[in-house]
Amino acid sequence: MTAATSGPESPLRGRDLLSIADFSAAEIEAVFERATALKAEFRTKHRHDSLPLGGRTLAMLFQRPSLRTRVTFEAGMTQLGGHAIYLTNDVVLGARESVRDVARNLERFVDAIVVRTGPHEVVAELAANAGIPVINGLTLREHPCQALADLLTIRERYGRLAGLVVAFVGDGNNVYHSLSLAGALFGMEVRLAHPAGYAPNERIVATARAFASKSGGGLTFGNDPAEVVRGADVVYTDAWTSMGQEAETEERRDAFAGFQVNAALMRAAGPDAVVMHCLPAHRGEEITDEVLDGPQSLVWEQSENRLHAQKGLLVELLGEVPVEPDESGARGGQ
Ligand code: CP
Ligand code: NVA
Repeated sequence: MTAATSGPESPLRGRDLLSIADFSAAEIEAVFERATALKAEFRTKHRHDSLPLGGRTLAMLFQRPSLRTRVTFEAGMTQLGGHAIYLTNDVVLGARESVRDVARNLERFVDAIVVRTGPHEVVAELAANAGIPVINGLTLREHPCQALADLLTIRERYGRLAGLVVAFVGDGNNVYHSLSLAGALFGMEVRLAHPAGYAPNERIVATARAFASKSGGGLTFGNDPAEVVRGADVVYTDAWTSMGQEAETEERRDAFAGFQVNAALMRAAGPDAVVMHCLPAHRGEEITDEVLDGPQSLVWEQSENRLHAQKGLLVELLGEVPVEPDESGARGGQ
């Protein structure tokens, strides 16, 4: 995006979300509050009385497969009165035309863009050239929409974030990066158990450490999953091989063999710990059926919260279309 078109409603109006580090804790809190209100209304009525995104359009540039991100953004736009256009083979970024030209066209057609691709730089280039909000729907570096839903889920479960311990078991990947930044912003202790060679990005760790030093949170690292999960409130895992790394699948399977979230690891964590996974799960690899489907699993609530968190995000970024009183003086819908 270019200049922020900040309206009175939200300091997030017109902003991009490329990294969790783009937002402050207070701004993320505003997304949570909006999401919580929308969730409560939708759970009760299965619809929204006012349609805050009436007439708004979201372009979805997806260069990678998706279930949750695609469906929750599309359904979310519909539920809020707007429309989403899913673009995959039609727009291969940088192939038929440049990323910059794609941005300069889309900003004239739609109100926001969600983009999923491998290189983070492509999303940054799109955002730099589009005067509308650009949302990172996953790159190899970050998955900020996932982290919004993750913290919303933890907040619902425990009623707070500061002081909680989240232990991530596996790869120091995109999901870990966004979760660690978000957890550090909110004063959480974020631990990572990873095999040698699969440490997270050092710059992201440095940013998260800076956030943690202000919030009272902390970041720790270890190579022994049982030790890292001990006393954790949340045990989190993700795929050993992320999209775009398929050529490394076999070597990663060997490297991560001792990093499975299973019943024995959950015993090490303790009976009160919950289990989270961004999904898709690779049952029998990073997580067992018993844990994923067991009583400590929070993954389905976490998955549902992608919908609510992103609806909150969209309304904060785009602002609410005002509802005009009709001729009888009643507030009409869109
Ligand atoms: N967690 C997540 O982003 O899922 P999808 O890849 O299905 O969108
Ligand atoms: N780390 C995984 C997350 C999928 C939602 C990947 O990038 O493929």
